[in-house]
Amino acid sequence: MSFRIQPSAPARPNRCQLFGPGSNTKLFAKMAASAADVINLDLEDSVAPSDKDIARQNVIEAINTIDWGTKTLSVRINSLDTPYWYRDVVDLLEQAGERLDQIMIPKVGCAADVYAVDALVTAIEAAKGRTKRIAFEVIIESAAGLTHVEEIAASSPRLQAMSLGAADFAASMGMQTTGIGGTQDNYYMLQGEQKHWSDPWHWAQAAIVAACRTHGILPVDGPFGDFSDDEGFRAQARRSATLGMVGKWAIHPKQIGLANEVFTPSAAAVAEAREILAAMQTATENGEGATVYKGRLVDIASIKQAEVIVRQSEMFNG
Ligand code: COA
Ligand code: MG
Repeated sequence: MSFRIQPSAPARPNRCQLFGPGSNTKLFAKMAASAADVINLDLEDSVAPSDKDIARQNVIEAINTIDWGTKTLSVRINSLDTPYWYRDVVDLLEQAGERLDQIMIPKVGCAADVYAVDALVTAIEAAKGRTKRIAFEVIIESAAGLTHVEEIAASSPRLQAMSLGAADFAASMGMQTTGIGGTQDNYYMLQGEQKHWSDPWHWAQAAIVAACRTHGILPVDGPFGDFSDDEGFRAQARRSATLGMVGKWAIHPKQIGLANEVFTPSAAAVAEAREILAAMQTATENGEGATVYKGRLVDIASIKQAEVIVRQSEMFNG
């Protein structure tokens, strides 16, 4: 470890973030009753420009009246290049009660974007005597956002989570696709006549995970658009979990169970992690730094890997 110890990310469940348009009030109670860890009420791209004002009022009323249980309750505001975002922040902070946990800032391109929202939120919190500090989550979904991902991860002590937004990211990068996440038919290597598909989101995901882990923030995979394709969602989510992401968005209730399944360590994985910890305990008692578990090397680094899985499992199972 470097002299500077890696900070821990917030210890809260974030396996699934369920989105719903702020203009669709019928969905709110269903979202509250769902098995998602995080709720994202949307004021941004799922709300038409003509509905922005009414959606904002709907969302404030829903925060104040619906029982959201123990979920993390978050609202996605409009991006800083729109005329809507300041009103989103002012009305939310002035009119929504203390149940609001988090604001999600989309299309963040540099640390100053977060700084601007932080300044506004801080002033309103002080003016209104709000006692609970609002947390932030951001979406990396542009070339600038990914280029500046590390400074964004370091931008505010309010920042708790960072997601990859595949659709806007693809558009900003000029990627030749209309798919939202998942396998892209034209992204393959050719060996003889055999195609091997590769993962066009890999670099962005790995960069986000590294920036998040450096600064103690939860890295999250964003939307998977084709909600009829369960196996495609699972495959995308499994890749994200393998890279260190803690959860994924759901844009339809079908995807909640899939996300929870992938981002909750399986009983087998937890049992194996505990066996590795036990094997290393025995090794340590024998004065050894490494030992053999099921024919493979485990050493002091294996303790940290196994602890990641055990800690996750304990957080979800209480
Ligand atoms: N949260 C909670 N419940 C939802 C839901 C959501 N996001 N989306 C749909 N449902 C409910 C429906 O109301 C319906 O309930 P019912 O069985 O009681 O009638 C049920 O789930 C099945 O819905 P379905 O008919 O398959 O979908 P739909 O046509 O009503 O809606 C979408 C499809 C994609 C428009 C809708 O899921 C949606 O708005 N998703 C979120 C989009 C969003 O927020 N995007 C921004 C982030 S990328
Ligand atoms: Mg987007």
